[in-house]
Amino acid sequence: RITDVRLRRVLDSRGNATVEADVLTESGGFGRAAAPSGASTGEYEAIELPPSEAIAKARELAVPRLEGGVYAGNQRDVDAALHAADGTDDFGVIGANSAVAISMAAAKAGADVLGAPLFQHLGGAFRGGSFPTPLGNVVGGGEHAADATHIQEFLAAPVGAPSVADAVFANAAVHAEVADLLDERDVACGKGDEGAWAPSIDDAEAFEIVDEATSTVADEFGFEIGFGLDVAGAELYDADEDAYVYGDETRSTEEQVEYIAGLVDEYDLVYVEDPLDEDAYDAFAELTDRVGDRTLVCGDDLFVTNTERLAEGIDAGAGNSILVKPNQIGTLSDAFDAIELAVRHGYDPVVSHRSGETEDTTIAHLAVATDAPFIKTGAVGGERTAKLNELIRIADDAL
Ligand code: PGA
Ligand code: ZN
Repeated sequence: RITDVRLRRVLDSRGNATVEADVLTESGGFGRAAAPSGASTGEYEAIELPPSEAIAKARELAVPRLEGGVYAGNQRDVDAALHAADGTDDFGVIGANSAVAISMAAAKAGADVLGAPLFQHLGGAFRGGSFPTPLGNVVGGGEHAADATHIQEFLAAPVGAPSVADAVFANAAVHAEVADLLDERDVACGKGDEGAWAPSIDDAEAFEIVDEATSTVADEFGFEIGFGLDVAGAELYDADEDAYVYGDETRSTEEQVEYIAGLVDEYDLVYVEDPLDEDAYDAFAELTDRVGDRTLVCGDDLFVTNTERLAEGIDAGAGNSILVKPNQIGTLSDAFDAIELAVRHGYDPVVSHRSGETEDTTIAHLAVATDAPFIKTGAVGGERTAKLNELIRIADDAL
């Protein structure tokens, strides 16, 4: 039984405040978790409130419901209490940032009570025992860096890696190889919010560089490393012009579908996230129809980890994969529901970090617990390697 829920403001990787929760139980269980935060946030995500406000509201409305009455190990009860305390369908009152921090901290307290690792508590005895392939962000721009590529993320996808550790090290090696290639071209640059290189080059040059870097490292490591993208199409889409804006260039929806389909073939892309706007179900369906047999067409801002939006996508044939970010929907139960609905309809779940992160490792456990085929949590940088190193430890332990 939960006896205490403590909430505080801590720093995230961008230096912004975020919500951290501690959950303590009668039998001495303890869990701590922190909410991440997006920059290219989807319009239909659950509401992130200013941390002070989210904490004050959660203390007033949610904490009294949890303390003394709810078992930390009963995740559905914890998350139902959070929904009941909030009373809206988007956590507009207590904030999805308070909700997700409490939900994840309760899961950890529940695992602690059982003496089980979090992935085991969440996944149970019937997990498949596979490991998620990490998608490593190696070059990027968009909302994550000023004056860099238009496409938000160029991702290494070590689909042939024999172990999670090999995959993690391969992504770091691609990141390093990209730095060498940029150096050869005399391109100086810093990093974006997720640790990817953020060069001031056009997207065409970024394609060349990442393609070469993945090939070089694949040869060196002796397994296949694919290439993926997060286009973050909603950030490129201009509703007034009804077009995707890449600096001076624009593409109509038709041209955008054509462009992405061309990229899939030219670079053998294994993964394309948000190639189109967050309302573009039909265009998503058209693209999926064309390339869905050979690549994952993943909805992030399109689905926002929301079962209602995913169900619409399933009906429309939009995409064949869903990005899963617990803070987009506010609780682990809701994230589990999205994954379950996705898997039932042949959509691959990809568990994901946010651009603003903390050292919290819950998503590594969530990916293993749900047998997600992919996890997207960067390639380098402390708040990213916290998850990647946790995956290596989990694999060492259990996979
Ligand atoms: P965000 O970006 O966390 O800034 O939304 C990550 C993504 O778009 O996948
Ligand atoms: Zn995305």
